[in-house]
Amino acid sequence: MDATAIILAAGEGTRMKSKHAKVSHSILGKPMILWVVDAARAAGCTRIIVVVGSHANEVRELLNTHYQEQTPCVETVEQTERLGTGHAVKIALEACDIQSGSVVVLNGDLPLIQPDTISRFIDSVASDNYAGTVLTMTPPQPFGYGRVQMDTTGSIVRIIEQKDCTPEQDANLLECNAGCYAFNGEQLAKHIGSIRAENAQHEYYLPDMVEILKAAGERVGILHCSDYRDGLGVNSRAQLAEITALARERINAQLMDNGVSFIDPLQAWISPDAQIGCDTVIWPQTHVLGHTIIDENCQIGPNTRIIDSIIGKDCIVDETVALEVQLEDQVTCGPRAYLRAGTHMLAGSKAGTHVEIKKSTIGEGSKVPHLSYIGDTTMGANVNIGAGSITCNYDGARKHPTHIGDRVFVGSDTMMVAPVSIGNDAIIGASSCITRDVPDGALALERSNQRIIEGYGAAKKRRTQ
Ligand code: UD1
Ligand code: CA
Repeated sequence: MDATAIILAAGEGTRMKSKHAKVSHSILGKPMILWVVDAARAAGCTRIIVVVGSHANEVRELLNTHYQEQTPCVETVEQTERLGTGHAVKIALEACDIQSGSVVVLNGDLPLIQPDTISRFIDSVASDNYAGTVLTMTPPQPFGYGRVQMDTTGSIVRIIEQKDCTPEQDANLLECNAGCYAFNGEQLAKHIGSIRAENAQHEYYLPDMVEILKAAGERVGILHCSDYRDGLGVNSRAQLAEITALARERINAQLMDNGVSFIDPLQAWISPDAQIGCDTVIWPQTHVLGHTIIDENCQIGPNTRIIDSIIGKDCIVDETVALEVQLEDQVTCGPRAYLRAGTHMLAGSKAGTHVEIKKSTIGEGSKVPHLSYIGDTTMGANVNIGAGSITCNYDGARKHPTHIGDRVFVGSDTMMVAPVSIGNDAIIGASSCITRDVPDGALALERSNQRIIEGYGAAKKRRTQ
């Protein structure tokens, strides 16, 4: 199958009232445009072209970061003047020299479109039966959508934008254009120039292709979307929130079907790109974002945010923020742990309460249970870090590493001033400031001697009476 997808993302998105491109706004942590591009990729489109315009650099950068070195690559075409969806498609066809094959056009604000809907569209024009097909739906609130006018036989006649509808058309035409089209590339290229901007918005409307192709004697069909939610567009913040809720509902239902438990599925936000294993329980107020993978039988949350991380089996992640980390099996973290990029916790290790770990390896069975900061550290197995101990990894200008061997016991309130190395089986006395390497098996103690002044309390009391 040889199909090109043209995704329209140049619009101003005025109704969002935002300083960012509309399509860069996120749904479950994933920018809207990536939902649409991923759907086109999953449908098997061999060429993907995104028309950018308003905030072009922002959108281009998003696409470059996500699809760099991927096949098919995602090309961008700039529409410098926003003269409408028809104009945007014309520019893409010309810039990319498209004159044949199947062409799917998708609005960039159509995040819930399903890959199999797109492939059905491609099939509809690939067979040469139709020069064009349009996805239609009957949403409960048709306000703002282009309305599909049909003849008595049920064939599409034209699409009338809401702003161009008479009050009767507005009230009676309830079938809406979802903003997903497929065209025979040859017919599209041949007729796109016939679109005129004689309408309420003085724009070149892509939906006018329906009437134009029909007038040229070509067949145009509709595919009715049985689930209107697939075709909802995002034009405002309220619609963004509505789509987020719909996406969440679908993703969580699918996960529950696969054996994941939710204490309350209304209070868990899981990315469409995340994977969660069976018997894992998701507690309320939990966000699992990006390409996170969570294995089986974990307890995740409550009050947890995990982004682009890998979590093994049987882990407990309680009130934790974890960004780009890897936890092996049976790791425990939280409540209130902050695990930052580059943290790798080996099997059975623990990051406890009010613990922050950055770019560090915590060895098998090692424990950092309370109030600690561990940064730029490699830690061996079965280490115990006493409460309030930290690695001083930053000298104000540069970061330095700390190495902690196996079975080390670090007493509470220890400062390990990096660069420093602590040998296997070493012991550090509580409240020490460690500035020199500690050999294997040694005791390191850095604290002033404790003074005892007998009877001091009673003497003080007498003085103040
Ligand atoms: C459009 C359709 C409407 C349909 C609805 C479905 C037109 C004229 N109307 O209306 O029939 O029911 O989508 O959601 O197409 N864009 C460009 N360049 C432009 C203008 C728009 O790239 O010059 C992009 C936008 O960024 C957006 C998409 O095209 O992603 C649709 O534009 P938008 O303004 O949202 O159209 P709607 O009014 O929603
Ligand atoms: Ca729209």
